[in-house]
Amino acid sequence: MNESALAPKVVRTRAGMAAERELARADGVSVGFVPTMGFLHEGHLSLAREASRRCDRVVMSIFVNPIQFGSASDLDSYPRDEGRDLELAALAGVDTVYAPSVEDVYPEGFATRVAVSGITEVLCGDPNSRGQAHFEGVTTIVAKLFNLIDPDLSFFGAKDAQQAAVVRRMVRDLDFRTEVVVMPTVREADGLAMSSRNARLEPADRERALALYRALCEIRDVATDGDLGAGLAGGRNLLEGEGIEIEYLEARDFDSFETVEDLGERPVLVAVAAEIGGVRLIDNIVLEGDGEAIKDQTGGQVAAGEAR
Ligand code: PAF
Repeated sequence: MNESALAPKVVRTRAGMAAERELARADGVSVGFVPTMGFLHEGHLSLAREASRRCDRVVMSIFVNPIQFGSASDLDSYPRDEGRDLELAALAGVDTVYAPSVEDVYPEGFATRVAVSGITEVLCGDPNSRGQAHFEGVTTIVAKLFNLIDPDLSFFGAKDAQQAAVVRRMVRDLDFRTEVVVMPTVREADGLAMSSRNARLEPADRERALALYRALCEIRDVATDGDLGAGLAGGRNLLEGEGIEIEYLEARDFDSFETVEDLGERPVLVAVAAEIGGVRLIDNIVLEGDGEAIKDQTGGQVAAGEAR
């Protein structure tokens, strides 16, 4: 169990974080890690609580990573509230928050990128979406954090299913010793997947955003009846009927990320991205061969807790 009091220890530098890790090593305790960009919601907190349940000590990083953003305006408008984050993190069992400055993470002369190929070329990695540079930014920061924090377990959310797959691939390929744990998407009571970006939605746009999950459910229902293509067409119609400009709406093999036409033996990821009211949102569900959503992996409807 964690001995965290009502405020986690806040560490601002790489040297400070390395010293914290040494202490954990000397104490012989296991370390769980929850990487975030802050503005915490129930999705992050569910990861922290699981980390707290499974590990002796929990480290959370709060760092809005500039190199994974495509545009300065998206980076600048990313919501931030560190005071609130620290309170919520403490309640979720976080012992240490690593919240460095950009200069500490990327000192002058920083010139390295960590890149996973293949599965980063599609969906969010497509040049018409965020592009592969987005995932390079993610894998570069996550690799740095893994090296520094050396976690036994690392916790990621299924809402970012492609990110989780990319990180898993990096861990396997580069022999990081951490085990990646992916936790179900947490949804608001009306189905909207929790995201820090939701805070930027105007009420009318938030209402329209509900169509994302509705479209995924429609696709699941039609695909269950044996026609994935018709399901995708129906989902697309539903979104376009709401005036939503779709960035992508695709069904892909959950492992290889190859396009799939039908449900087969293997799980299929159905993923959507759209910009609504100037806010880019993503969501997904995973369908098994028989069309049922995999409840314990991704796409499960998980009740929202009290902390948002
Ligand atoms: O999912 C996120 O919040 C970010 O991509 C991550 C994993 C913290 C890396 O910056």
